[in-house]
Amino acid sequence: MQVAQTLMKVFVTRRVPQEGARILSQAAGCTVSLWDSDEPVPRAELLKGVEGAHGILCLLSDKIDAEVLDAAGPNLKVISTLSVGFDHMALDEIKKRGIRVGYTPDVLTDATAELTVALLLATARRLPEGVEEVKNGGWSSWKPLWLCGYGLSGSTVGVVGLGRIGLAISKRLKAFGVKRLLYSGRTAKAHAAEVDGEFVPQDTLLSESDFVVVSCSLTPDTQGMCDKAFFSKMKKTAIFVNTSRGSVVNQEDLYQALSSGEIAAAGLDVTTPEPLPTDHPLLTLKNCVVLPHIGSATYSTRGIMADLSARNLLGGLQGTDMPSELTF
Ligand code: NDP
Ligand code: DGY
Repeated sequence: MQVAQTLMKVFVTRRVPQEGARILSQAAGCTVSLWDSDEPVPRAELLKGVEGAHGILCLLSDKIDAEVLDAAGPNLKVISTLSVGFDHMALDEIKKRGIRVGYTPDVLTDATAELTVALLLATARRLPEGVEEVKNGGWSSWKPLWLCGYGLSGSTVGVVGLGRIGLAISKRLKAFGVKRLLYSGRTAKAHAAEVDGEFVPQDTLLSESDFVVVSCSLTPDTQGMCDKAFFSKMKKTAIFVNTSRGSVVNQEDLYQALSSGEIAAAGLDVTTPEPLPTDHPLLTLKNCVVLPHIGSATYSTRGIMADLSARNLLGGLQGTDMPSELTF
């Protein structure tokens, strides 16, 4: 006698690149429903969509908290996020319920490091201002002191959080002739040797660096870490770059530091909230370059992230290995 197999229900919170969509559409034993849009799923639709789900494929813009887990109910076995960051997920609640989590480390490291270097150079060498001046007729002549900025050659760079991405950023920056590479964090890293990185207290990093690059994860410890006291320890000529999460920065304090000349400039790929309202004070400053969270945004990286997150999801549903399971 054949026993009818119950289909497992999967909810996907956004349209994802075809590399992931294809895997999900071909998965046996699953019924997949999708928030079929490029825009985030409204909260009410998320709560409805996850009802009875065995698996959820989510994005960093979806807050996965106790309410979502309760709405999903006891079937839920796995949550796979299309991101390396997992600060949008209530891990304590997820753990309590014995749910497995998949994420996408490594595959986006190079793209994010590349974007961080681009943002650092754009900020330090004032590229958006220069482009604007060409368009608005402000370019009258070659002038010795016009649009001067700061160069990497011979500089000291401080990396807050020398993880996978912090290391990849450091490797790239070293090629620009950086003289000293400092880093801070909870623990010294063996891989720092690859970039001659010096593990220093955060205060030393701030007072000695010409460029401060934040690439740590968002945790209760790093939430609001870049505040008035942080910026006051930096050099007046220093450039601040953040490609981790917006909440690591106190944006009011950053605005004060930038507008008062306490630091030279800032480049941000991440903000709070996202999107940053178009009337936000930071956007009035010429010495603040803001990007719309595009660190990992290359076609190939997003495709690989989608593939990995789909395979993570299937592993969790089938109770087998997940290619990148988060241990917590
Ligand atoms: P890793 O886990 O490899 O690195 C995170 C680093 O943060 C670790 O080295 C950790 O150091 C450090 N850290 C933790 N707490 C602190 C602290 N209190 N002070 C300083 N450093 C600390 O992650 P990844 O490098 O892969 O990713 C890092 C983050 O980058 C992600 O969590 C995500 O938020 C962000 N990201 C942003 C992208 C974008 O598009 N802008 C793209 C991809 C990622 P330790 O081990 O000592 O705790
Ligand atoms: C992540 O993966 O955490 C990034 O912020 C987006 O790629």
